Amino acid sequence: MVLVDAIEQAERLDPVSDRIQRTVDRAPRRLRDFLHGVWLGHPLHPALMHAPIGAWISASILDLMPGQEKAATTLVATGVAGAVPTAAAGWNDWAALDSEQRRTGLAHAACNVAAVALYGGSLVARLKGRHARGRLLGFLGLGAMGAGAYLGGHLAYKQGANVNQAVADLMRVPEEWQDLGPRSEYPNGTPVVRRIGDVPVLVYRRGEDYTVMMERCGHQTGPLGAGEQVEVDGEPCVVCPWHGSTFRLADGRVVHGPAATNQPLLEARVVRDRLEVRKP
Ligand code: FES
Repeated sequence: MVLVDAIEQAERLDPVSDRIQRTVDRAPRRLRDFLHGVWLGHPLHPALMHAPIGAWISASILDLMPGQEKAATTLVATGVAGAVPTAAAGWNDWAALDSEQRRTGLAHAACNVAAVALYGGSLVARLKGRHARGRLLGFLGLGAMGAGAYLGGHLAYKQGANVNQAVADLMRVPEEWQDLGPRSEYPNGTPVVRRIGDVPVLVYRRGEDYTVMMERCGHQTGPLGAGEQVEVDGEPCVVCPWHGSTFRLADGRVVHGPAATNQPLLEARVVRDRLEVRKP
């Protein structure tokens, strides 16, 4: 769509985008990890958004039926309440996107802010008994929410925001065992980058145990092989150099966002002193 393409390229949005990003970046890391969905193993924002969308669509259906004012009002209020944590999680994810994605994200947020304002007005009108006005504002809010949902879909499915970017690499690894060379090539406790065809993987050896994970970060394909090695709760981890997602080297588990999903692992074995891997 021409308008959406124009939003993606609208560099004049960047100064305000950068300012909001700096503000969001000041939030405590623990809160940010919670809002990214690190604890859930899945991005939180798309899970939360079902509450306002479902409630508001249901309210619109009830608005078309006679005698459903009370139930519709309850659903409008539920949607407004649900929009608050949904927006917080959305802004938190948005701040770790690249500039083109953030431009679309700003337009997505603007539509959703309009939807919340319209539904807020609709709720006030309904509580005052002005249901015709409440219905009108509700339908306008539904339109704004629909535009926001379209832009959110564009952000995820066309621009790849918050999609697990490591999965595409994983799919390209053969299901047959692949030779990754003699195990003497792998120093104990230090991750090493190897390639299977053109797919980079990160090999981590601890004693006789090997972890082989996708090397491109699931958040936005940052090179984990160039990341710093740190300890979190006594466990060695690698920190993505792009936005700081942190993964446990022993099992790929995400311990800090913005990534919300674990880094995919390959199956590994040692045969005649050589390391072999395959897609699980
Ligand atoms: S690419 Fe964003 S944290 Fe790795």
